Amino acid sequence: MADIKCIGILTSGGDAPGMNAAIRAVTRSAIYAGFQVKGIYRGYKGMITNEIVEFKTQNVSNIIQMGGTILKTARCKEFTTPEGRKLAYDTLRSHGIDALVVIGGDGSLTGARIFANEFNFPIIGLPGTIDNDLYGTDLTIGYDTALNTIMECVDKIRDTATSHERLFFIEVMGRDAGFLALNGAIASGAEAAIIPEISTEVDQLAQLIQNGFRKSKNSSIVLVAESPVTGGAMALAERVKNEYPGYDVRVSTLGHLQRGGSPTARDRILASRMGAAAIDALLDDQRNVMIGIKNDEIVYVPFTKAIKNDKPISRDLLNTLHRLSI
Ligand code: F6P
Repeated sequence: MADIKCIGILTSGGDAPGMNAAIRAVTRSAIYAGFQVKGIYRGYKGMITNEIVEFKTQNVSNIIQMGGTILKTARCKEFTTPEGRKLAYDTLRSHGIDALVVIGGDGSLTGARIFANEFNFPIIGLPGTIDNDLYGTDLTIGYDTALNTIMECVDKIRDTATSHERLFFIEVMGRDAGFLALNGAIASGAEAAIIPEISTEVDQLAQLIQNGFRKSKNSSIVLVAESPVTGGAMALAERVKNEYPGYDVRVSTLGHLQRGGSPTARDRILASRMGAAAIDALLDDQRNVMIGIKNDEIVYVPFTKAIKNDKPISRDLLNTLHRLSI
């Protein structure tokens, strides 16, 4: 193993429930293995502004159940420049940090890859994003909690939709990916999911909804993934309203409440396993890899693979939603 003594840890990009569980797991596994640990505040920004403190086991006590991230997070413009990254590198060296664990999504791991190559710096990534859009891992930290939040919200909307016999378009997050929308739709018994990976015509959608009402369904719910490709729930609702004025249409955008809340058991366990695996990876002389999970086994995914490839949507899930929405 390379001569690593001190590991820095940071969270970057959009926060995700379970990030705290991951911070705890990385810190404790590192200390257990004999490393020193330093917490870096506000993501890459804290590497430039020197917001770094030593983390002992008690710094991560009582956080496994908390949403958000105790390390705070940011999207840092300066880190995208070579000058900014050089400043960050100098700060890390001044603290004696010789390896990093970065918890974040696509953008954060892209930054990690560039920095690791530029300074030959060992970095292990943990997939922390509600979007579940990183290639090479079945799940990302925060996805399950967000999915459960979506399910609970849609269940509530279903009550009022049914009472008023309305058609609801509910917009969910996911950036350019439809995992939250598709699985959220299956979990909440929605009629359809509009996702960027699959094109759906308004007529096709209206047909499906019409069939439902004909069979005396009391309400219809369509989950729409936020994305320029789908156009979002509001635009879709407008089109349906214009072309089918008979429907009583409403729109609800779930927004940032999808990012909050106490992580589910599944996310806490995933984050704990991945956090411990990050330290195993460093001990194993791995670098520039993201920790992933495939068929319940921990895997190492090179940054280039995790970032560059689009994670495919399962046709089987689409088919299941389609068959169950008749
Ligand atoms: O990547 C997580 C995510 O919540 C996306 O689903 C969403 O598009 C984006 O972050 C929102 O980012 P912000 O909180 O910066 O508006």
